[in-house]
Amino acid sequence: MMNQELTDPRILVLVSGSGSNLQALIEATRERDYPGQIVAVGSNRPDVLALERAKRAGIETFTVDHQKFGSRDEFDTALKAEIERHSPDVVVLAGFMRILTPGFVNAFRGRMLNIHPSLLPKYTGLNTHQRALDAGDQRHGVSIHFVTEDLDGGPVIAQAEVAIAADDDAQSLAARAQQQEHVLYPIVLRWFCEGRVQLDGEHATFDGTPLTQPLVLPAEEA
Ligand code: GAR
Repeated sequence: MMNQELTDPRILVLVSGSGSNLQALIEATRERDYPGQIVAVGSNRPDVLALERAKRAGIETFTVDHQKFGSRDEFDTALKAEIERHSPDVVVLAGFMRILTPGFVNAFRGRMLNIHPSLLPKYTGLNTHQRALDAGDQRHGVSIHFVTEDLDGGPVIAQAEVAIAADDDAQSLAARAQQQEHVLYPIVLRWFCEGRVQLDGEHATFDGTPLTQPLVLPAEEA
């Protein structure tokens, strides 16, 4: 597949919480040479700090409150309509804590990214930091992947590693993992906007070559 750089890519970010990843993306995309702009931030929860961060940055926001819908399908249909109003080239899940239906996911296949706080395929789902500690792992980290129907299971593009220290608890580990998220997400999103990262069938590709392993940022010292 040919690499094709997007023209002034429109980025839409979905959030559910504090939005520290969103903040990192806002700062990165403000740089003059960043190849994309955040056109809107959407949340499934009103009153979250992430929406405040977006407003402070002058970015349009919307909320589709999942509690107001009787089913996942109805929620996803409403969310999809809101997203499409902004004609995004890429949908970036940044701490968006809803499971999405296959119909929704497939509508954005190849243009929806997620960040997950583990070295996938390890520890899909929740409590990833504690689970890495409980397993006695020495290495932990974060992953960015294309979103497919498979929960936390789409092709991984890149990972950043964190060494686990003897005195780590879930909180200290989460804090260091998040620092890595804030570095990695702007880099991977840039690659996507530049057309360097794409989804080709079941594989992520980088510069046209299928990734047999995720790209890895080296471990930070614990
Ligand atoms: C991030 O650490 C992200 O990896 C995680 O939620 C946090 C959101 O933080 N996402 C998931 O667990 C998705 N399964 P933030 O709101 O401060 O960016």
